[in-house]
Amino acid sequence: MASDFSVTLKNGISTQVSFISSMKDLSRIIEGCQGNVLLVADANSAYLVPDQIKNRVILPPGERYKTWQAVERIVSAALDAHLARDSVMIALGGGVVCDITALSASLYMRGCRLILVPTTLLCMVDASLGGKTAIDFEGGKNLIGTFYPAEKVLVAPQTLDSLPESEYISGLGEVLKHAFLSGDEELYDFLHSRCDRILSRDRGTLVEMLGLSLHVKASYIERDPEEKKGIRQALNLGHTFAHALESIETFGISHGIAVAWGVSRAVACSYAKGLVDDEFVHKADGLLRMYGYDIDMRVAPKRWDDFIAAVGKDKKRASGSVRFVLLEGFGKPVLSPVEDDLVRSLVVQGA
Ligand SMILES: NC(=O)c1ccc[n+]([C@@H]2O[C@H](COP(=O)([O-])OP(=O)(O)OC[C@H]3O[C@@H](n4cnc5c(N)ncnc54)[C@H](O)[C@@H]3O)[C@@H](O)[C@H]2O)c1
Repeated sequence: MASDFSVTLKNGISTQVSFISSMKDLSRIIEGCQGNVLLVADANSAYLVPDQIKNRVILPPGERYKTWQAVERIVSAALDAHLARDSVMIALGGGVVCDITALSASLYMRGCRLILVPTTLLCMVDASLGGKTAIDFEGGKNLIGTFYPAEKVLVAPQTLDSLPESEYISGLGEVLKHAFLSGDEELYDFLHSRCDRILSRDRGTLVEMLGLSLHVKASYIERDPEEKKGIRQALNLGHTFAHALESIETFGISHGIAVAWGVSRAVACSYAKGLVDDEFVHKADGLLRMYGYDIDMRVAPKRWDDFIAAVGKDKKRASGSVRFVLLEGFGKPVLSPVEDDLVRSLVVQGA
């Protein structure tokens, strides 16, 4: 098992990250919780809910249920179950369940206790750590939210056994992203040398990978807990390209596949600006291809206007201009505006 660790966030609040090797451990931790417990899952993670939990809310799965109605259901259930401020809300699910439950916990009686048990790869390495809570509102993704770190994140790799392949590959996109944000190349070397075992979800290999990936995320959020210094924004590497691709892709593309493509475009952009050399591009593209990501995907010329309009809407704006996360090497992100002509040359077919 990877070692447990804690991450210190805003005002010295810490999140304890622990690896658990069986769902029995989860039951034991819940039994050890002082006070009342309410557990929130969705229909796909509900099978993991320990029998002993009577107070439970099972939400319908999917981003389109990341709504006020879901928060209302949780808060109503909390009232029915007489939860107090020292009671615990536990989220057992992917990023959607964790984001909604965390928002509910931050609002209920001005904040009750919160434990997250992520059950998707994306949520384990990304959404569960860092204190961001959210629901979508009137078409705006994550428009309403608070900052409310969980007291514990319990990582249970065995929950990934039932995760559909497409969701697993999607989560891996974020892990690969972390490899380029890490200065010591340990995660890069690990991903490079264990590809087969990672793709076949070998448990021991996964635990090591999760530990390395989580430490990269932790190192960025600890240095910039409230995303005010530009350090934490580096975690959006590849995301400006990815969000624009996702928004114009009519047939739907998974987030992680878009992120992997976005990372390759950010690396190409860094190269075009003279920030990295051939060898770095070769290493980055090689790793992304090794995991089967299509980094040669390009946008049809007739979709360019939609693509660049979507880039403009991206939230990482500074003084009216969009700042992309680029790289000067492993673990050396920089935020920089990029001219539209350069973006076009990187993403449009035949440009
Ligand atoms: N708070 C943050 O910092 C942060 C960071 C990144 C992403 N997010 C949010 O996370 C969400 C995406 O997270 P996600 O990819 O986990 O999506 P998700 O929660 O929708 O889960 C993806 C699918 O997998 C299913 N599922 C979950 N666990 C399963 C399991 N063990 N076995 C089988 N199926 C399972 C879910 O029901 C869902 O259908 C987005 O809403 C995004 O905004 C938040």
